[in-house]
Amino acid sequence: MKQVVLGRTNEKVSTISLGTWSYGGGNKSGDTSIGWTGQNDEDSRAALQRAWEVGINHWDTADVYGNGRSEKIIGAMWSTIPRKEIFLATKVGWNKEGFDTWYHPSMMRRHVEHSLRNLQVDEIDLYYFHHCNFDSDTAFEDAVELMRRFKEEGKIRFIGLSDWDSNKIMKYIERVDPDAVQPYRSVFDDMHHSSGLKDWIEDHNIGVCFFSPLKHGLLTGKYTEPATFPDGDFRQNVNEFGDADVIQRMLENKVVLEKKFKDHPQPVIHGVVDALLTDAPTGCILLGQRNVDQVDAAAELGEALSVEDSRFVKDLYRK
Ligand SMILES: NC(=O)c1ccc[n+]([C@@H]2O[C@H](COP(=O)([O-])OP(=O)(O)OC[C@H]3O[C@@H](n4cnc5c(N)ncnc54)[C@H](OP(=O)(O)O)[C@@H]3O)[C@@H](O)[C@H]2O)c1
Repeated sequence: MKQVVLGRTNEKVSTISLGTWSYGGGNKSGDTSIGWTGQNDEDSRAALQRAWEVGINHWDTADVYGNGRSEKIIGAMWSTIPRKEIFLATKVGWNKEGFDTWYHPSMMRRHVEHSLRNLQVDEIDLYYFHHCNFDSDTAFEDAVELMRRFKEEGKIRFIGLSDWDSNKIMKYIERVDPDAVQPYRSVFDDMHHSSGLKDWIEDHNIGVCFFSPLKHGLLTGKYTEPATFPDGDFRQNVNEFGDADVIQRMLENKVVLEKKFKDHPQPVIHGVVDALLTDAPTGCILLGQRNVDQVDAAAELGEALSVEDSRFVKDLYRK
């Protein structure tokens, strides 16, 4: 597996890194489905073991994934996997726990301790603000100060900033001064350049970890008709899964990529995932891998497409 230096962290991580949101299983927040159904812990553990074996050495989780279940599954792996060989990232922010702001200092302190316990580690390598919904400037300043304190206290090594909307990341990036950012990015919908985030990353030598490169599996082209998902499954909220025209386009694009990259063992996901590495010299991709087969497929990826091929794939999906 190819590695990249994650910007100023100076850490070497696999260009294809492991997203473990699904390891939390089905989950709801109020009426909203926020998890992934159909996951069993055996598959999660086997995928983690295989990821380490193939050199996928950067694992991404969050306190909120299954309310700690994803973190706990990772934390139980250190009997077979040397802790030092994994660059471990987790996040805080999606569980108010009765407080009236998303990043109340007491909540953050409680959550960092929980995550350390769940993960069975002394230190978290990369700790993210999970989103940029800072309720007020005061709440924002307190939260950033506390993050810096966690660093001084040796609870975390690097600070991360994430959001689904790269424009929101840009709004706070200067004042957070993160070591790494985690934006949403796929060839299907992408604001990496237009938001200014790409330029900022380059100017400040920070790491970037793109999430949901397959748009939660949609871009594989494996759906032959509109899909529905059970309660507890986040994909219920993604309209494109239910859109017959989108599904048809994904099927057609799959055929194009199978021809275009016919010599690659994973032509479709190579096209849509590796296209994102072309313009990201300090970046990696957080690909959700639910089982050993998906890890084995991911292990075939990680070499950036040429500029021409990347442009070809992006144009195909944005038509
Ligand atoms: N910071 C944030 O706010 C945020 C938000 C979202 C995600 N993330 C991170 O990014 C990671 C990845 O995002 P994601 O899980 O949403 O989506 P993704 O990586 O776009 O898609 C992953 C899903 O695609 C399917 N898949 C993976 N490999 C496949 C293969 N070889 N063949 C066929 N299907 C395959 C699997 O689902 P099925 O098998 O069920 O089809 C898998 O769970 C997350 O796990 C999380 O760590 C962060």
